[in-house]
Amino acid sequence: MGSVAFNHVYKYYKGEANPSVNDFHLDVADGEFLVLVGPSGCGKSTTLRMLAGLEEVSQGDIYIDGKFINYVSPKNRDIAMVFQNYALYPNMTVFENMALGLQLHKVAKHEIEQRVSRAAKMLEISHFLTKRPGQLSGGQKQRVALGRALVREPQVFLMDEPLSNLDAKLRTQTRVEISKLHSELRTTMVYVTHDQTEAMTMGTRIVVMEKGKIQQVAPPQHLYDHPNNMFVAGFIGTPQMNFIPGAIVSEHNVFYFENRRLKIRVPESRCAQIAAARTNLRQVVLGIRPEYVLSESWALEQYPDWRITAIVDSREPMGSNTFLHAKSGDDTFISRAEAHTPIQPGDTVSLVVRMDRAHFFDSESGVSFAAQGDLRS
Ligand SMILES: Nc1ncnc2c1ncn2[C@@H]1O[C@H](COP(=O)(O)OP(=O)(O)O)[C@@H](O)[C@H]1O
Ligand SMILES: [Mg+2]
Repeated sequence: MGSVAFNHVYKYYKGEANPSVNDFHLDVADGEFLVLVGPSGCGKSTTLRMLAGLEEVSQGDIYIDGKFINYVSPKNRDIAMVFQNYALYPNMTVFENMALGLQLHKVAKHEIEQRVSRAAKMLEISHFLTKRPGQLSGGQKQRVALGRALVREPQVFLMDEPLSNLDAKLRTQTRVEISKLHSELRTTMVYVTHDQTEAMTMGTRIVVMEKGKIQQVAPPQHLYDHPNNMFVAGFIGTPQMNFIPGAIVSEHNVFYFENRRLKIRVPESRCAQIAAARTNLRQVVLGIRPEYVLSESWALEQYPDWRITAIVDSREPMGSNTFLHAKSGDDTFISRAEAHTPIQPGDTVSLVVRMDRAHFFDSESGVSFAAQGDLRS
């Protein structure tokens, strides 16, 4: 059905020295919700547009349902696309906008009516089928655009930042609706976003891209727990993972992470990984997420080996918890504390760095020690 395969795909735009999409190689299984995520300009839309047939492939092959489609025109690819700017026809009613694609494909009239009414019900837009886009709010327009894609009953849905024009509350609501639609329809989706929260909450698998290149492909929790490199580690998660440069040294068969200010014991559970790392241990980066930098007294008691001293710079109350920004020399640690923590800016505090949850990266390549086993050349 709706499987997609990218076989070493490249895109060179005219006049650009570097490829905008660089060796994109990936199989998408039928029924997957695949999210492409990465900063602006990393090549997400270009990848999606090549799949849609809106942009030529410079090199490599793309298959939908096993069929080679590089030269198949967009309308014959059995896909439907939803864009950020809705792209509705202002002079047509909602019904006409939703029906247009089916009319062009010569679908019978009663069938069109059936499909539009079914999609309208799913999206709760039945009551404004006779309105024009100009009479609708942004959120309603985006549901119409979704509806127009739904009625096509395609093998693959393609969505390019469809929620970007919606306000925060509507974005969350529509995000949940799209996820629900996917679990009802089980149609393959390829969804582009720069928003890591959208990626984490919607994707069954996430592709993190940077500068045209795939950095990592994994299910959301795996990506969060096991980032292959510093780019992925820093991109996924807010506030972002703390990165502390330093060295790993060994004394009497115990490893320590050390820099000018800090010396923290590395637990035995990590020794095998460190011993196997193909990295200069004098130049490493310790990565630790804010939820594993703790200020609470239970943590200080439980993990005496992993205490550091730092001065609190600022606090960010989020309501459900408070983030403390603390400095130890030049190093900044963001720590997730309880909402009502008494710690204030200017305080000197003890923090626990949960070394059992630490990541180690090669400071030159950014590659995680854990990922060095499957390093590709
Ligand atoms: N039509 C175009 N002509 C030339 N360069 C383009 C064109 N479209 C996009 N690019 C370039 O390709 C790169 C990737 O763009 P894009 O795929 O739109 O990124 P994203 O969707 O991740 O923000 C960017 O450097 C962008 O400037
Ligand atoms: Mg884009």
